[in-house]
Amino acid sequence: MATPLPRLKKDRVAGTFYRTTKYVRWWDGEELRCEHKLDVKKCGDCLGLKTVAPRLPPPIQLPPTVTPILSNHWPALIITPSTTTVIPGVKTNSVTSKYRVSHKIGRGSFGTVYLGASTESNERVAIKVEEMNCKVPQLQYEYEVYSRIPPAIGVPRVYSIAKNSKVHLMVMELLGDDLETQYNKLNRVFTLEQIKDIGSQMLSRVEYLHSQGILHRDIKPDNFVYGSPHGEHAKTLYLIDLGLSKRWQTSDHKHIPYREGKSPVGTQRYMSLNIHLGHEPSRRDDVESVGLVLLYFIHGMLPWQGLKNDKDKVIEKHASTPLDVLCGKAPVQFVEYISYCRALKFESKPDYAYLRRLLERI
Ligand SMILES: Nc1ncnc2c1ncn2[C@@H]1O[C@H](COP(=O)(O)OP(=O)(O)OP(=O)(O)O)[C@@H](O)[C@H]1O
Ligand SMILES: [Mg+2]
Repeated sequence: MATPLPRLKKDRVAGTFYRTTKYVRWWDGEELRCEHKLDVKKCGDCLGLKTVAPRLPPPIQLPPTVTPILSNHWPALIITPSTTTVIPGVKTNSVTSKYRVSHKIGRGSFGTVYLGASTESNERVAIKVEEMNCKVPQLQYEYEVYSRIPPAIGVPRVYSIAKNSKVHLMVMELLGDDLETQYNKLNRVFTLEQIKDIGSQMLSRVEYLHSQGILHRDIKPDNFVYGSPHGEHAKTLYLIDLGLSKRWQTSDHKHIPYREGKSPVGTQRYMSLNIHLGHEPSRRDDVESVGLVLLYFIHGMLPWQGLKNDKDKVIEKHASTPLDVLCGKAPVQFVEYISYCRALKFESKPDYAYLRRLLERI
């Protein structure tokens, strides 16, 4: 019979294994090891555990209909000084003294996102890092936009921003998988039920951002992220990456003026024809991009993919693809969805509820 371990305490951080000053017992009780990696019964004289290689708990079985899959960075990882990495260019500043940093969990064209933990509470966070010498610095701006948005469903919390001579770091709520990752994990197939849920949540997030006078301008699967998989918001989609956002409403509540000849901002694959053609973006373009993302999920691609090095060809393909070809095998409601968006005037407020109802009917 195994000797009972003294003073077992549930670990506050990982919550998945038990730790005493002397012994470690994994949460499933399979293994008892001391710091010399010996069976505890065979090594009675070691004093104190210093570091323990984290071992992943067995995968949690989710019912097949549940959308989010546990992301790889979530299983019982303990961020100890030994797992701490150094962000290139960062020695110490107000963020690195308050947060330990672990591995990369995401990368975009502007920033790299790391998993971190508060040194005080061990609460896990995401740390987005942007190099000072990047072409278009936008992290400080992104932080300010987030900080001005009142808390709401699907709006990530941001905690702090810091900089040194080489990088900017923004500390924010740790979320789960983005939609592109999730789509790939599901072998690039979303069921219509999932499409309905995703589409409706995307529209609600965009509607809220618009209600704050802000356009996102970079609607794409990578910028919608599920809540942390172990939390109560695991199935909630968050809209992230406000670095390219812009106000559509001026401080005196007027619409920004229509302009032409603008350089397109956003991701070519999901941008509306208006943006391609250099028209000033407005709310209609964000909602059209939501429709294009959903069509991408249904077909696995959009007709102009593969032409990305040739901007003119993309525009030509976009403009010349008939709506029924664009919507292909998607439910008929998508033809209505895209036609509605394309008919919106520059200043019109989209009828988000109507678009959600269309999706509910598919
Ligand atoms: N708070 C977070 N929690 C977990 N993962 C995150 C978080 N923020 C970002 N990520 C991951 O990192 C990726 C890149 O983040 P983000 O979009 O903010 O960077 P970016 O460089 O601005 O990207 P883009 O290329 O879209 O402009 C996201 O697609 C997502 O997978
Ligand atoms: Mg992004």
